Amino acid sequence: MSTEPLLSVQGLTAHYGPVRVLDDVSLDVPDRGLCAVLGANGAGKTTLLRTLTGLHRATSGRVLLEGEDLTRLPAEKVITRGLAHVPEGGGVIVELTVEENLRLGGLWRSDRRDRTTFDEVMDLFPPLVERRTKSASTLSGGERQMLAIGRALMARPKVLLLDEPSLGLAPLITKQIFTLLRDLRDHTGLTVVLVEQNAAGALSVTDHGFVLNQGRVATEGPSEGLLADDRTRHAYLGF
Ligand SMILES: Nc1ncnc2c1ncn2[C@@H]1O[C@H](COP(=O)(O)OP(=O)(O)O)[C@@H](O)[C@H]1O
Ligand SMILES: [Mg+2]
Repeated sequence: MSTEPLLSVQGLTAHYGPVRVLDDVSLDVPDRGLCAVLGANGAGKTTLLRTLTGLHRATSGRVLLEGEDLTRLPAEKVITRGLAHVPEGGGVIVELTVEENLRLGGLWRSDRRDRTTFDEVMDLFPPLVERRTKSASTLSGGERQMLAIGRALMARPKVLLLDEPSLGLAPLITKQIFTLLRDLRDHTGLTVVLVEQNAAGALSVTDHGFVLNQGRVATEGPSEGLLADDRTRHAYLGF
């Protein structure tokens, strides 16, 4: 087994105009890892995901997936290399049906010999099966998040990046989504990077956590250890 990380972020710096929003961010995510990226509002979490997926240009640093440099690739190329992104709010298109939303995700599929079929993805989300022909606008918040995740999985990614999937969801539904991510990792070998402000919830389901503070990795470690570390919790995680 290789010890090389599946996803390696090396010294990533990004700006909005003159303002540095990511400052020398380095993090490694192993194959089949389930990692949390935590931090307060404005810490740079969304910018990190957008920079990883080619939606925002890094000023310097590198993003490597299985050793391949993705840093300068446009977003539509990044996804075919295996990095899929569920944006904040999910980005479901409410004017389309559940099935149409999922099929959109399939447009980015990279490997035609080994496709994640529509049916395979549907099997992961029983609540979506009966709503298949319904407008996505009829879905609950949790179901929309499932649909957003399903759509990203249609591209058969190696790494799934999620931006605050718990936002606006009730605690019980949040728990279901987090558990779903762990099951996906356990059963399909997917690697997951979960960006969250809900630090306690995210740390209870992940293996490893990175804490962003003002665009820098302030601390990182096994999730259990971060949960138990009063100083980190008080200083950065707000609980
Ligand atoms: N499009 C933008 N233009 C200018 N500044 C931005 C933009 N998006 C985010 N920022 C700023 O960048 C910083 C990091 O934001 P963001 O990555 O959204 O953080 P988080 O997702 O952790 O809340 C914040 O100070 C925010 O105000
Ligand atoms: Mg954000």
